[in-house]
Amino acid sequence: MNAKNNQPDSRQTGETSRRILKRDPQPNLFKPITFRKITARNRIMLSPMCQYSAKDGLADDWHLVHLGARATGGAGFVFTEAVHIEPRARITPHCLGLWNDEQRDALKRIAEFVAQQGAVPGIQLGHAGRKASVGRPWEGTRPIAPDYGGWPVISASNKPYADGWPEPEKLGRKGIDQQLELLAAATRRAHQAGFQVLELHAAHGYLIHQFLSPLSNDRDDEYGGSFDNRIRFLLQSIETVRSEWPENLPLFLRISATDWVEGGWNIDDSIRLAKILKTASQVDLIDCSSGGSDPRQKIPIHPGYQVPLSSAIKNEAGIATGTVGLLHGPDLAESVLANGDADLIILGRALLADPVWPLRAAKTLKSNSAPWPVQYERSDIF
Ligand SMILES: Cc1cc2nc3c(=O)[nH]c(=O)nc-3n(C[C@H](O)[C@H](O)[C@H](O)COP(=O)(O)O)c2cc1C
Repeated sequence: MNAKNNQPDSRQTGETSRRILKRDPQPNLFKPITFRKITARNRIMLSPMCQYSAKDGLADDWHLVHLGARATGGAGFVFTEAVHIEPRARITPHCLGLWNDEQRDALKRIAEFVAQQGAVPGIQLGHAGRKASVGRPWEGTRPIAPDYGGWPVISASNKPYADGWPEPEKLGRKGIDQQLELLAAATRRAHQAGFQVLELHAAHGYLIHQFLSPLSNDRDDEYGGSFDNRIRFLLQSIETVRSEWPENLPLFLRISATDWVEGGWNIDDSIRLAKILKTASQVDLIDCSSGGSDPRQKIPIHPGYQVPLSSAIKNEAGIATGTVGLLHGPDLAESVLANGDADLIILGRALLADPVWPLRAAKTLKSNSAPWPVQYERSDIF
């Protein structure tokens, strides 16, 4: 018991109770946000970020501490890195997977801990397609041949990602159906593990994006050619996730809103897709990233460089969006929300560098709704 307020002492119960002070008008960044039955305490989301630290696709203490620290650091949504639906879906041999129950159970304790800290636990599901089977960034991100611990890769077409990359096996009708079954099974396990939001990874040149972009899809069947055919695998993937993911839990979709290459997928395609998704009401938010499908891309990188993509999709399709990419200044993040350019601020490297970014941003923006965990309360001087 805590003698001062007659409440159970959170340091003994293991829970992080947070003292809510008298409410002031909140900055947008710290206003709660609701999707279906899930409400997050603020609009800051930890972006999915591979840690390349798993063995056999299993999450371990690294993942618990990494994601747990961002939850205690005050983020509203804490997302896992891309979690892969079959062994050959992994980007590297050290990426996370969710094709068996052991992997589900390893993720479960992380989802539970994140939720105990007041954050919404989210999981990103993905398949790297022709960009799978590469070394870790610190090993050079080069393709690993099957004889050296890699594996044969699959894609929408036989086109390799770049010179020197392997020729993928083009998925046939049976292969596509098998992918949807794997996605359904991973979705079921994600729910059993206790995640409250699922993000489908359709960005960065990975498998779904390989179907979307004319740069990587030269099929002449019902999955290639026209816009409607190229989005078919994505729509079927969304349908599949929704058939397993509870109606009252949100589904996010990460797309590359443009390939940044002439003749590739572009912002007009993204807006057209977003309008279809808005009408279907299965996807709750589009996480607007960009690039990754072609090494010829020219990305105009500067703070907030992907905000215009989010803004166009949100305002033209009327669907909620998240924006990501060099948004590390709290004032910039706040102004993006205030301008109506996005509904969520998604942070990657800023939260790697500083797990308590949300708590510091609350101080900068004079919000009192993001108090330090009681265990860390005395660091509130910073
Ligand atoms: C180490 C690292 C790993 C990443 N892994 C993923 C991933 O698993 N899934 C994904 O969609 N994006 C991934 N990304 C991209 C980030 O989620 C984010 O979109 C990007 O870093 C831009 O945001 P930032 O400027 O806030 O870092 C990764 C980025 C980094 C730095």
